[in-house]
Amino acid sequence: MLFKQQAWLRQKLLVLGSLAVGSLLYLVARVGSLDRLQPICPIEGRLSGARSQAEFPLRALQFKRGLLHEFRKSNASKDQVHLHDLVQQLPKAIIIGVRKGGTRALLEMLNLHPAVVKASQEIHFFDNDENYGKGIEWYRKKMPFSYPQQITIEKSPAYFITEEVPERIYKMNSSIKLLIIVREPTTRAISDYTQVLEGKERKNKTYYKFEKLAIDPNTCEVNTKYKAVRTSIYTKHLERWLKYFPIEQFHVVDGDRLITEPLPELQLVEKFLNLPPRISQYNLYFNATRGFYCLRFNIIFNKCLAGSKGRIHPEVDPSVITKLRKFFHPFNQKFYQITGRTLNWP
Ligand code: A3P
Repeated sequence: MLFKQQAWLRQKLLVLGSLAVGSLLYLVARVGSLDRLQPICPIEGRLSGARSQAEFPLRALQFKRGLLHEFRKSNASKDQVHLHDLVQQLPKAIIIGVRKGGTRALLEMLNLHPAVVKASQEIHFFDNDENYGKGIEWYRKKMPFSYPQQITIEKSPAYFITEEVPERIYKMNSSIKLLIIVREPTTRAISDYTQVLEGKERKNKTYYKFEKLAIDPNTCEVNTKYKAVRTSIYTKHLERWLKYFPIEQFHVVDGDRLITEPLPELQLVEKFLNLPPRISQYNLYFNATRGFYCLRFNIIFNKCLAGSKGRIHPEVDPSVITKLRKFFHPFNQKFYQITGRTLNWP
């Protein structure tokens, strides 16, 4: 009997011991990886607050990978929010477009920064009359919880092309920072088409070929009534925005380079947002199966974008591509001139 009890006790101790060692290893790994993302120099002025500066990024990261997600899922209680000084802040920067430019990748990659908190969903506050009618408090309540020193960023690519949006955003915050991520216009238009095509196929609907939509069959000219073409005339949309905001409040991200070489593009954004440089090569790794860069928060937590990002485009008649590129060329030149960013598109 005594022998049986001892064996049972030994077994229990063994299980408890393994659990303790496992937890310890997990903690070492987690804290170790967070340390790697800690600041090498103190955070600059705009992020400083009552909190110890050196402490901030570590807490922010723990918060972003832990508490924040739990809070969002289970609806934080008032006590929890109060305890952690959490707030729901209006965005200080918005990714206003362009659809299929790489807006999701940009948002997710910026969210690697400890001082940035993303609004995961597209909120469509400024482009949707019904949502806009619900008022600014409704919008603020859609924002994630964050520390007051962090900045919230949202992305809704429809903002860029919707008439009413610049004035509405201006009314909320006339000094907001605006991010536009663009891709070579013809590629973007084909990407846009591919997304719509996939939706149609899912519903078992037939759809026209890209060539038929992009080229007017009567004139054989580019069909400027086709939305995917219109969206790619970046300068036309930007000009509407410039009636409200000076060009200094915009930053153009090269969406084609964000695919192949994301870090330098992200570093430019960090600079534009006056954030200390915290995103490093460690945070981005190329996944050969996906054919894209994926995100590494620490040795435990990493992720790639959903499969709906990075679709295979249909083959398009080369003469149509040439025609479209020729059509976009003067608009692109104007876009480079206005923004001061030359992208060397064909
Ligand atoms: P494609 O599907 O045409 O390849 P958006 O998020 O604005 O809808 O943009 C989608 C595009 O983001 C994709 O277009 C893809 O090329 C691009 N992209 C950029 N970086 C990516 C990444 N790391 N993973 C997946 N897609 C990425």
